[in-house]
Amino acid sequence: MDQIVGGARLATEVPKGFVTLDVLSVQHYTDRLFSFTTQRPAGFRFRSGEFAMIGLMIDGKPLVRAYSIASANWEEHLEFYSIKVPDGPLTSKLQNIQIGDQILIRPKPVGTLVFDALLPGKRLFLLSTGTGIAPFASVIRDPEVYEKFDQVHLLHSCRNVAELQYGIDLVQSVHSHDYLGDLADGMLYHHPSATREIYKNTGRIDDWIKDGRLAQMSGGDLTPETDRVMICGSMAMLDTLKGLCEEHGFLEGSNSKPGQFVIEKAFAG
Ligand code: A2P
Repeated sequence: MDQIVGGARLATEVPKGFVTLDVLSVQHYTDRLFSFTTQRPAGFRFRSGEFAMIGLMIDGKPLVRAYSIASANWEEHLEFYSIKVPDGPLTSKLQNIQIGDQILIRPKPVGTLVFDALLPGKRLFLLSTGTGIAPFASVIRDPEVYEKFDQVHLLHSCRNVAELQYGIDLVQSVHSHDYLGDLADGMLYHHPSATREIYKNTGRIDDWIKDGRLAQMSGGDLTPETDRVMICGSMAMLDTLKGLCEEHGFLEGSNSKPGQFVIEKAFAG
């Protein structure tokens, strides 16, 4: 195959178990964050919230990481949202991709941030920090979420205001979408918050839960009877919010045993 990485065309074999995808668009948000879209492999199916292994050929070998699929499962392309780690083995290279370059994907999506791992409920809370919003970009663009729940609350907190832009654009695109806009009307609520800059909302998600702000903006405190929670962020964030869910009496779900909350690490490197 002819593989183009960072503008250079390399003659190399596609490793077993992978396929290559052309990059269709790239958008940089900050010096730490960017998103990109690619072709979707023929026959590639995934459930909203799942991740796949994607990456690049580096020094003749595949270097891949788990990336949540941010696009809706009905879209023709795939979208990913990534951090840029200056000395990260993959993202230091991936951040330079351009339209027409190729990435690798192992077309076997998996994950626990899926409806199948949750019992039926009324309110769905999507709790995210940083690039942890990526799986929820897929979830809130899935018409099914508006059939399964009465309210969907997307919380996204980042250090800086500029880091919230991806989520702001995303939610705007849902509300202005011909079909999704009607479904999401009065059902999808977005609560972006900055933790290290002045903004209309500030503070960590655990503070929002503890000081009653989450209850106030959603119409009542978290309750395992009718609420379901999906959590995606750093290990520290997962520990904190998993602990809080358990304190509220929520049971963790999995694909084989659905529960009241599910968690997944936002991967980077
Ligand atoms: P803070 O600015 O107070 O550290 P990071 O870029 O380090 O992954 O952080 C992304 C966001 O997650 C930041 O807003 C950060 O808040 C927040 N955060 C970090 N650790 C936790 C945690 N244990 N629980 C909840 N939020 C967290």
